Amino acid sequence: MATPGPARRLLVSGNWKMYHDHLAAIRTVSDLGLRLGTDLGGIEISVHPPFTDLRSVQTVVEDRGIPVLLGAQHCHSEDKGAFTGEVSPPMLARLGVSHVLVGHSERRQLFGQTDDQVAATLRAVQRHGMTPIVCVGETEAERAEEATEDRLTAQVTAAFRKLAPERLAALVVAYEPIWAIGTGLTATAEDAQAACAHIRAELAGLAGAEAAEAVRIQYGGSVKPENTAELLSQPDVDGVLVGGASLDAASFAAIVEAAASMGRRR
Ligand code: 13P
Repeated sequence: MATPGPARRLLVSGNWKMYHDHLAAIRTVSDLGLRLGTDLGGIEISVHPPFTDLRSVQTVVEDRGIPVLLGAQHCHSEDKGAFTGEVSPPMLARLGVSHVLVGHSERRQLFGQTDDQVAATLRAVQRHGMTPIVCVGETEAERAEEATEDRLTAQVTAAFRKLAPERLAALVVAYEPIWAIGTGLTATAEDAQAACAHIRAELAGLAGAEAAEAVRIQYGGSVKPENTAELLSQPDVDGVLVGGASLDAASFAAIVEAAASMGRRR
């Protein structure tokens, strides 16, 4: 559907989930820094370690000039308050975090995060000058019932309804089919494209075509070095959100290199 414009730089993000303590994080990001080439094809890279690693990773990245943006995996929607165990958007912003995952399916399914919380959190993340990566995706049962598009429409509408077009244009959506997460099953490039095009059409319905064309849409779910280039060859797939394969610097660097080669062609 879309011709990628200069605003749609590819974004490769590594979601470390609850892996790597701060010492392992320092080793991993240092190793990644040594492996990244100098010509990254204009793509952006973010890593999303656990909260306890953020300060350590930020220090290493800044000290060594590693071209990686600092990401978080979640935050609360309020700036402060009696919310035991939570971390607020301004706390992340103060640490130099630039990208925050919002509404990852594991937060939605395992921790009861609601559509309303997702909507409030992505707005709070933007208020503090950071970029939300808002995750959507269907379950295996929804896919079997051919309800994928309905599910995506419902999630996109709940998250972005009444968001100003310039706000929408600045954020990132991650399409992560739940059946593909951590399973080794990857959506075909055609299925990923169809879902991302559907998401973009829904965004256009909410905020207009111009804003929708600017939104970057990542694919996530068993992304590996071997399938990255094909996924990124699709016109509406503007990046990848990588779980397991981002934990190892060599495999994440290989994904980055595959994306960089696609970035050079865009
Ligand atoms: P995997 O790459 O391990 O399937 O995880 C995907 C994911 O959930 C990224 O947020």
